[in-house]
Amino acid sequence: MKRLIAEREKARLGGGEKRIEAQHAKGKFTARERIAMLLDEGSFEEYDMFVTHRTTDFGLDKQHYLSDGVVTGYGTIDGRPVYVFSQDFTVFGGSLSETYAEKICKIMDQALKVGVPVIGINDSGGARIQEGVRSLAGYASIFQRNIMASGVIPQISAIFGPCAGGAVYSPALTDFVLMAEKTSYMFVTGPKVVKTVTGETITEEDLGGASVHATKSGVTHFVAADEEEGILLIKKLLSYLPQNNLEEPPLAICDDPADRLEESLNTIIPEKPSQPYDVKDVIQAIADNGEFLEVQRQYARNIVIGFVTFNGISTGIVANQPKYLAGCLDIDASRKAARFIRFCDAFNIPIVSLVDVPGFLPGSAQEFDGIISNGAKLIFAYGEATVPKITVILRKAYGGAYCVMSSKHLRGDVNYAWPNAEIAVMGPAGAIEVLYNRELKAIEDPEERARFVAEKESEYREKFANPYEAAKYGYIDDVIEPRNTRFRIIRALQVLSTKKDGNPPKKHSTLPL
Ligand code: COA
Repeated sequence: MKRLIAEREKARLGGGEKRIEAQHAKGKFTARERIAMLLDEGSFEEYDMFVTHRTTDFGLDKQHYLSDGVVTGYGTIDGRPVYVFSQDFTVFGGSLSETYAEKICKIMDQALKVGVPVIGINDSGGARIQEGVRSLAGYASIFQRNIMASGVIPQISAIFGPCAGGAVYSPALTDFVLMAEKTSYMFVTGPKVVKTVTGETITEEDLGGASVHATKSGVTHFVAADEEEGILLIKKLLSYLPQNNLEEPPLAICDDPADRLEESLNTIIPEKPSQPYDVKDVIQAIADNGEFLEVQRQYARNIVIGFVTFNGISTGIVANQPKYLAGCLDIDASRKAARFIRFCDAFNIPIVSLVDVPGFLPGSAQEFDGIISNGAKLIFAYGEATVPKITVILRKAYGGAYCVMSSKHLRGDVNYAWPNAEIAVMGPAGAIEVLYNRELKAIEDPEERARFVAEKESEYREKFANPYEAAKYGYIDDVIEPRNTRFRIIRALQVLSTKKDGNPPKKHSTLPL
């Protein structure tokens, strides 16, 4: 008994008081403190506290720390079980050894069998250099488990320190990455290697800090001001998710009336078709208590994704954002939304799409970088998804972008449009240019030309720039008053809650990656 108490105390000290102090001095918590913040009080059951490494080279036979640099186990968050691993920077810089990887693999295997989420807290100097290929093998074993668990249990990665080299790929294989501002960074090769190979001088923060990955690469889904905020975000995120792919997401308690009318929506769309508005105002107006957990907020801002509840039903939102690039679809937006849709579909979370899209972003940059195959990902994701899919066209749905954005033809279950919606192959100005090219060339007087254009545009608008043409064919199920949007969505979600749909049996699709 005495030995047990003494050994436990030793394990809890990780790399020792001094290194714990150094960790705190950097504004960081220790691996165990982080677990304590994340899990319900007293719920943590630790595994493998007494594990140590097996290396004898480089003097490591004389350096053993109980737990070997990673704390693993399970506990509960808001009463729901989760498995967790938390890397301990105070032990060999949190570097990954063979036994350390075995500890992580053990809890990942258990989580998959039990069917509960895995949360990984990353703070590590990468592969333990003294162990060579055994530590690399450890990484690859973790990757394999990330892949097997993908789409079966939610996997969330918090980055609360360094995460470099091979270490970046386990978080990248998980569903959500969260980084803490200023104290975390992720890169495949660090500034020193970059300098040697390319001559470029760049800081850790500028190469792989939270802000870079939130705005430029899109690698991180969430940025937290500090670790405490990060932990709260993880808890909030989990509240929208089921424990595994065979469960429904939890039903939240809702005190916001399902039949609440939102008068402001009747006037939210500006008079001028090209004038922007903030689609997040629409999301907040229709969601329960205006609450919206946005994902990848700073990346590809022309599309907005995230979680809300509707009368307590957890729902994924995908919305074009007219405030950025006029809401056009581009490569980044297509990839961002496609990945989110596939996550929701894997975990039985219905998708509500709010559409106001003038088309794909034109230009050589987009074409050269592959808007064709990247845009196809979004079509694929929508068309493949079998969860309830509800679409509301708020204003524009032009051209190919109409097809893409959860149209009836991609198995949209309920497709609504607001009364001023314009559903057409293209906007009036572009259409007139193409249709009356010859006539326009023949008119020399600019005034007469303008009159001609105005007349033809009005004819075109009358015919196509409204939702009734699409409604005539049943492509739109109903034209709804904007103020009724919340309860029409809630009713649709309720009736669709028993929806069953599937895809033909196959090994897997050949999604255009
Ligand atoms: N393997 C073994 N030990 C490691 C290690 C690794 N990959 N990374 C860090 N450590 C050890 C250090 O030797 C040091 O040990 P000590 O406390 O006994 O002195 C301790 O961890 C802390 O590292 P230190 O370099 O002092 O911390 P730092 O905050 O100044 O820097 C890093 C952190 C991650 C930037 C730096 O340690 C580093 O560059 N590590 C190597 C990264 C790498 O290239 N890994 C391989 C990629 S797969």
